[in-house]
Amino acid sequence: MPAPQVLAPPDPAAVDLTDPRTFHDVDTHALWRRFRELSPVHWHPATERAPGFWVVSKYEDAVAVYRDNKRFTSEKGNVLATLLQGGDSAAGKMLAVTDGPRHRAIRNLMLKSFAPRVLQPVVDGVHRHTRELVARAVDSGEADFVTDVADHVPIHTMGDLMDIPYADRPRLVEWNTQTLSRHDSADSEMESLMARNEILLYLSGLAAERRRNPGEDVISVLATATVDGEPLTEDEIIFNCYSLILGGDESTRMSLAGGLIALAENPEQWRRLKTGDVTSDSATEEILRWTTPAMHFGRRALVDVPLREKVIKAGDVVTLWNSSANFDEDVFADPYSFDVGRSPNKHVVFGHGPHFCLGAFLGRVHVNAMVEALRDQVARVELRGPARRLYSNFVHGYSGLPVALTAERATEGTDGDA
Ligand code: HEM
Repeated sequence: MPAPQVLAPPDPAAVDLTDPRTFHDVDTHALWRRFRELSPVHWHPATERAPGFWVVSKYEDAVAVYRDNKRFTSEKGNVLATLLQGGDSAAGKMLAVTDGPRHRAIRNLMLKSFAPRVLQPVVDGVHRHTRELVARAVDSGEADFVTDVADHVPIHTMGDLMDIPYADRPRLVEWNTQTLSRHDSADSEMESLMARNEILLYLSGLAAERRRNPGEDVISVLATATVDGEPLTEDEIIFNCYSLILGGDESTRMSLAGGLIALAENPEQWRRLKTGDVTSDSATEEILRWTTPAMHFGRRALVDVPLREKVIKAGDVVTLWNSSANFDEDVFADPYSFDVGRSPNKHVVFGHGPHFCLGAFLGRVHVNAMVEALRDQVARVELRGPARRLYSNFVHGYSGLPVALTAERATEGTDGDA
């Protein structure tokens, strides 16, 4: 693993959070510690590409804004890219960028497909699938944990939920990666836009087919549902299916890869997991906190709102940095140690309040399945060569992670060190 560059502690006033390079191969913990210490509610000046915006880095403040959908709206976008360009074309149609009664009605509709009881067969499938992928990676000696393992799990879960034909799923993963995060700075923004359009077009075809011929899947539920006696619009159906692929796939994959790195780099924690000193649920929560795949979300203020000693003006963009809040020393004891037994662990990986992640249960299931497969099937994890970081100011994660996983049975009798 390449060590992050050790630089002088950054000055918040000189940091450009709109630039993905700011997050690439640097010690972001040091960066966020400075923000929390020096300027917890910080005005990020305009750049040549984008207008200015607020940066909220303390846990307590992030939670307060997440919770407050009266004074802050998601309808002007909920990530920096859309907030700064003035809006999201899915506003008022897709759950994450819809507020008020319409948001509640569609969320309630979708929640029925996401109840833990309904999802039990999906959960069993995730565990089975993860065990098989880990076994295959172990058998092949060396593997790329991202492309050989992590990439294959969540897309099949979303695919099963939406009954997406198997053959089409790899294309969706590729489009999704292009939409959200680029492998390097050379990939163009146009490519990302085109990938998003490809997904929407693809889903539009599926929705039309399910309306004619409904099944039990989520697309069929949305395509045949009514709110106040009226069917959902074509856009509502397509954008909400899109949001499941978007939200469900990439973040989950990122926490799986980041979790493996954390376990490999912290042998003492790996041992605690292997010996049963901690539960897989507890390790799952810490992996989620530690990896925080969705670095930020955001809102636009509807009225003037005082926050600490600053006043956020009506119309201002406010960004909430989960990757800082989850390491806030006022909330998490010893936040920079990876502690699989951490309790309490009330991170904001899945946000908070009315827009709290609809797929949080499934996100947890995926990480938990990976933790249990590694615990039960793997004796030793070795990182082989540099992990390839994604190029993004939104998703924190990896596009490549060479590893060697040694089978549990091959080293029976050893103490199971990572
Ligand atoms: C919302 C993170 C997995 C679907 C959110 C939000 C966060 C988040 C932080 C709040 C956004 C906001 O407040 O503006 C994550 C992470 C995941 C994950 C880190 C994996 C580790 C999933 C999965 C699904 C999903 C598996 C779908 C099956 C959604 C949807 C929303 C959402 C539909 C919008 C909810 C609403 O606005 O009411 N997610 N998510 N997410 N997530 Fe996830």
